[in-house]
Amino acid sequence: MQNEKRVILDCDPGHDDAISIILAASKVSLLKIEAITTVAGNAEVEKNTLNALRVCDIAGLTDVPVAQGSPKPLFKKREIAEEIHGETGLDGPVLPSEPVNKPAQQHAVDLIINKVMESDGDLTLVPTGPLTNIALAMIMEPNIIPKINEIVLMGGGTFGNWTPAAEFNIYVDAEAAKIVFESGVPITMFGLDVTHQALATQETVNELSKIDNPVSHFVVDLLKFFIKTNHDVFGMDGGPIHDACTVAYLIDTAIFDVKHVRVDIETTGELTYGMTCVDTLGVTKRTPNVNFAYQLNYDRFWNLFKKALKSYTN
Ligand code: BDR
Ligand code: CA
Repeated sequence: MQNEKRVILDCDPGHDDAISIILAASKVSLLKIEAITTVAGNAEVEKNTLNALRVCDIAGLTDVPVAQGSPKPLFKKREIAEEIHGETGLDGPVLPSEPVNKPAQQHAVDLIINKVMESDGDLTLVPTGPLTNIALAMIMEPNIIPKINEIVLMGGGTFGNWTPAAEFNIYVDAEAAKIVFESGVPITMFGLDVTHQALATQETVNELSKIDNPVSHFVVDLLKFFIKTNHDVFGMDGGPIHDACTVAYLIDTAIFDVKHVRVDIETTGELTYGMTCVDTLGVTKRTPNVNFAYQLNYDRFWNLFKKALKSYTN
């Protein structure tokens, strides 16, 4: 287990984003959530913000600022993933209609800039949606770049889920991803290679259903929907809780094996737009810029996750 780490969760909740927030807010986590920022991705940014506020209510995060960010990618049209996350962006459980928390008045990009500039260089950014907000913050205030401790993100992989070559978060805003990956900030990347190993199955649901508190019930309802849509859309035997890998790593790095490699973002390819070119064999001889997570310890991951959900029982 690691020491307390200060984080900003930049997300588009989204079932797996929601689960990631719940893991970060649990008592097994030593993360200090400084803010939650939202971005257009799984659903429109307004829905993602509402969902982030709902998840904060459920997880008891009453004093964490939730700031809304970019409504669209840097250059492209908005693209959403309704077939995976449903009409609300968080279909499945009964959702609080009027969350107690209210959105911060500040724009997400301003909030990220201010928090990083005020920090001692100890703030970690955890993006689990398209990288639009992070890229915009770097463009608006380049002085944040050397002050960001690390970026621990979900995105990319050596194969795609939105096109054969590209994963959703990177595909939605590849230009933003290129800015972030070329920024020089240390990056740990959780792509599909490893997040597909964090697969919640019917068996997982049965196990988690034995835990009895409102947060675990909420997660079980999220997973039931998410497992079904991942089966219907991708033919998978479960739902990969992609985004929760980022937070699990920050709580217990030993869950994952990582390799320091070069990753470049494709922004021009006709068939490969949004691809993360992961140089696992070092053939480019380019300076490695990413800790690429490729292996997950399944039991250690799910044990952490179960402990986290149990910690919500009074
Ligand atoms: C990523 O895309 C979104 O649908 C998920 O929330 C996750 O961040 C997986 O490709
Ligand atoms: Ca996400």
